[in-house]
Amino acid sequence: MENQRESGMKERKKRRVILFPLPLQGHINPMLQLANILYDKGLSITVIHTNFNSPNSSNYPHFHFCSIPDGLLELGASSLDVVALTTHLNVNCVVPFRDCLDKLLSNVEEEESTACLITDAACHFTHAVADSLNLPRIVLRTSSIASLLAFAATSLLHEKGYFPIEDLGSEAPMPEFPSLRVKDIPLIHTQDEENFYQLLITMITQIKASSGLIWNSFQELEQDTLKTLEHDFRMPIFTIGPFHKYLPASSSSLLSQDTSSISWLDKQAPKSVLYVSFGSIVAVNETEFLEIAWGLAGSGVPFLWVVRPGLIRGYEWLEPLPKGFLEKLDGRAHIVKWAPQQEVLAHPATGGFWTHNGWNSTLESICEGVPMICQPCFGDQLVNARYVSHFWRVGLHLENRLKRGEIERIIRRVILEAEGEEMRDRIMDLKKKVDVSLRQGGSAYQSLESLISYIESF
Ligand code: UDX
Repeated sequence: MENQRESGMKERKKRRVILFPLPLQGHINPMLQLANILYDKGLSITVIHTNFNSPNSSNYPHFHFCSIPDGLLELGASSLDVVALTTHLNVNCVVPFRDCLDKLLSNVEEEESTACLITDAACHFTHAVADSLNLPRIVLRTSSIASLLAFAATSLLHEKGYFPIEDLGSEAPMPEFPSLRVKDIPLIHTQDEENFYQLLITMITQIKASSGLIWNSFQELEQDTLKTLEHDFRMPIFTIGPFHKYLPASSSSLLSQDTSSISWLDKQAPKSVLYVSFGSIVAVNETEFLEIAWGLAGSGVPFLWVVRPGLIRGYEWLEPLPKGFLEKLDGRAHIVKWAPQQEVLAHPATGGFWTHNGWNSTLESICEGVPMICQPCFGDQLVNARYVSHFWRVGLHLENRLKRGEIERIIRRVILEAEGEEMRDRIMDLKKKVDVSLRQGGSAYQSLESLISYIESF
């Protein structure tokens, strides 16, 4: 019996999957989590990555890594303009990616045949490359299902000549996606707006042309949008998220995580702390930063604040913070450059999360039952925030210009008032659904089993 199982394992190890993430923190994390899940299921893993934001391979000794020259830095690409970065990547990486993939496929030993390529949805150029090498391509979409449908609707509106919109703050329903408002349309500002729409159109076309679509989301959370997706995207769909709950975390963080966050939280009362972080890309100006600082201070609530270097436009780090700000708060506040976010959200002292609603942050908050203050800035964050505040009702949306008085009030509502308790109850229900979905027989569990069989069928 034991021998049979061992030889079965060996046979399964023979299939290899090649993965290629978009080189941004919010995309690298889910891709490497997925890689770990697939490895755990007996597949061997090769990760192709750019030099720009390259992952730390030493945290993944069980994977094979290949880096490709991307020329992104030379072009002045930065994480601050994700559309320009992605557009450059889709042009610049074609040749090096093809060479690398070709080499990998021809070097393959008999017992390690490559089953397929899994690439980020935004890396649409990989589709033609995979096709030319007769390799199936499965797409990983790292955000919510609702946000992809909203992007699809946005590209349709562009085709119909709807943009530019005069009243971008309108509460009217979004044409082509009426469960959102015009103000939730997931636009992303960039140097050349046309690039954005072109990126959406090509991404959606190449998703539809691919062999399958993997989601870091789960059926019970996005039931209705999943139905629409299945209708609009007729292809194998796998909702196997939340990825980070499958296995103990191995860090794919590009910045080092400050563990003093946890020792500081250890000294705080249960559910008393507001965790504040706007992810790896969002930036604010000095005025907004000061409103946030004074709003946090005025709320009377203890807070753990991630001020990422570069968060404040034009400054290195905390220079605009008034002198003595932290000292005056007398231990009620802790500021770090980057935190071990999943541990922070799972900590008993954490009572709320002020977030930009990047999909990873949103999902991580749901998984730990932490209600949110939503402050989306661009793209999918606007859609995620609307779902969090309006449909799942597990967060409050901070919609207006940042003003310290409003910030103080919304923090108190989430951390101290009954409204916050009600949101906590609702998000705890979602957390329970996550747990059921991942268990044997649950929807994510079954979807992962189907994905593995599908990959092994190539
Ligand atoms: C980007 C986009 O902005 C987002 O809208 C999209 O959904 C994914 O790509 P980002 O802004 O970085 O992502 O946000 P998010 O998706 O929340 O990902 C941030 C990741 O960094 C999370 O996994 C979070 O746990 C991690 N993180 C964040 C840390 O490890 N430490 C921190 O201090 C902050």
